[in-house]
Amino acid sequence: MDLAQIFLNNQLWIEQKLKTDANFFTNLSQGQSPKVLYIGCSDSRVTAEELMGTKPGEVFVHRNIANMVPNTDLSAMSVINYAVSHLKVNHIVVCGHYYCNGVKAAMQSADMGILNPWLRNIRDVYRLHKAELDSITGEEAKYKRLVELNVQEQCVNIIKTSDVQNAYKDRDFTVHGWVFDIHTGKLIDLKIDFDNILKEIMEIYRII
Ligand code: CO
Repeated sequence: MDLAQIFLNNQLWIEQKLKTDANFFTNLSQGQSPKVLYIGCSDSRVTAEELMGTKPGEVFVHRNIANMVPNTDLSAMSVINYAVSHLKVNHIVVCGHYYCNGVKAAMQSADMGILNPWLRNIRDVYRLHKAELDSITGEEAKYKRLVELNVQEQCVNIIKTSDVQNAYKDRDFTVHGWVFDIHTGKLIDLKIDFDNILKEIMEIYRII
């Protein structure tokens, strides 16, 4: 890709925005009050705002390899803290995607260097759900299910935090698990039910 094109695109984007709203950037510079924190994969095909059709200012975004929320990852924990306790978002979405190379790499036996400890978190998801995953015939179906279960486990990691436990107690707040299907473009709500999955788990990790 020609990087000079990016600056030309940027100029066109500014012109288009100002054409529809002369105060667009003045308003944008006033601050942000997003209602949603989106945690997704860094994969270049899974674009966050574009696939959701959201505008600047509407979604707080965090992306990393395989949309992970490791318990000791300072970056993810800081994003959650800021979004929940300062920006006061009402929703946290973990959005995985089928054909995720991070999840695929975790299913294979290979020394990935610095990626080993990161991908080990996904192997932990496999271990937790080994009975279900081993009962699935076909590598692709198993791989897709691991993507879904990884989303679910990252939602579990989110509800372990004090910020999120306080938010559940104090206001209208929900954690959601979604998957983006690259083959169809469709966004799928996994309907990770608070009462059936997250509530019971929160009992174990309750700190508030
Ligand atoms: Co991915």
